[in-house]
Amino acid sequence: MSLNRKEPRRALVTGATGFVGSHLARRLVDNGWCVHVLVRHPSNLASIRKFEDRVTVHRHDGSTEGMFDIVKAARPDIVFHLAAFSSVRYEPSDIVPMMQSNVIFGAQLAEAMIRHEAFRLINTGTYSQHFENKPYSPSCLYAATKQAFEDILTYYTEATPLQVITLKLFDNYGPDDPRPKILNLLHRSAKENKPLAMSPGEQYIDILYIDDIIDAYEVSAERFFSGRAEKSEVYAVSSGTPIKLKDLAKTYETVSGRKLPIQWGARPYREREAMILWDQGKPLPGWVAKTTLEEGIRKLIHS
Ligand SMILES: NC(=O)c1ccc[n+]([C@@H]2O[C@H](COP(=O)([O-])OP(=O)(O)OC[C@H]3O[C@@H](n4cnc5c(N)ncnc54)[C@H](OP(=O)(O)O)[C@@H]3O)[C@@H](O)[C@H]2O)c1
Repeated sequence: MSLNRKEPRRALVTGATGFVGSHLARRLVDNGWCVHVLVRHPSNLASIRKFEDRVTVHRHDGSTEGMFDIVKAARPDIVFHLAAFSSVRYEPSDIVPMMQSNVIFGAQLAEAMIRHEAFRLINTGTYSQHFENKPYSPSCLYAATKQAFEDILTYYTEATPLQVITLKLFDNYGPDDPRPKILNLLHRSAKENKPLAMSPGEQYIDILYIDDIIDAYEVSAERFFSGRAEKSEVYAVSSGTPIKLKDLAKTYETVSGRKLPIQWGARPYREREAMILWDQGKPLPGWVAKTTLEEGIRKLIHS
């Protein structure tokens, strides 16, 4: 595959209707990539509506053959894999969809990449694979499925030409975020002046503004294009400055000038809540977070 050709770079993005994936697809489009997005049949395209006419949308029917067809049509230089059933909480009825999204879907994708000679994959992992700062300890079933897929990728990188960079993300926030994530909850509770029942708030959070996360995917893509990437690499995309939940709320109050109606201690800590965070990950060379927490909160408030 030529890297010096004149045509635009080609990307296939999974999870492009999600928060991080939609911001990534948008950035790639804006930077001149030819972007293909893989969605499911019921996926709601609202989050990519503003640039939907600038991407090629493929609807995956869940089958391995369907995945082969999509990778063949997209001919990606790089696959950005962000699709996931990404929830710490689950019901028994979530077991099958979680395995489907986090394990089977990924294996279908890797297999299709090999078949159609698309050999560069940027995968997405999570800090919650490292409960209590251990080399591997899943804080929840979701984290175990992320590890399962990383293990599957070890087979592909050892036995096939596939190259993988796995980016392990922590928390993130930014505009147009429909997820019930911490900064959103604080922001909503401030705007609506609605009481928010929280744990005692002594746990640490490592949180990044969405633009910095997207930078990490772009820097990873450059590692591939410049030939610097090894066969398999894993990086932590961390702010480097974790903050206690209580202090995060205080920072929000200072920046916004609003008092948060938080009821500290009204909820217990979650089972296997990460009180300390994983700090043993390798930093991604050439990437550094540029947005301070204060700037990010300001951007969120004014978005
Ligand atoms: N705190 C964090 O944000 C955090 C931390 C660590 C790691 N991560 C990882 O970062 C990635 C992006 O997270 P996010 O918060 O942006 O996720 P998100 O908003 O929950 O979006 C998940 C995306 O995955 C898609 N998806 C799920 N199962 C699929 C399947 N079987 N087939 C096709 N598409 C499927 C969803 O499509 P639909 O629109 O059809 O549902 C959606 O586009 C995920 O891999 C997540 O595990 C996130």
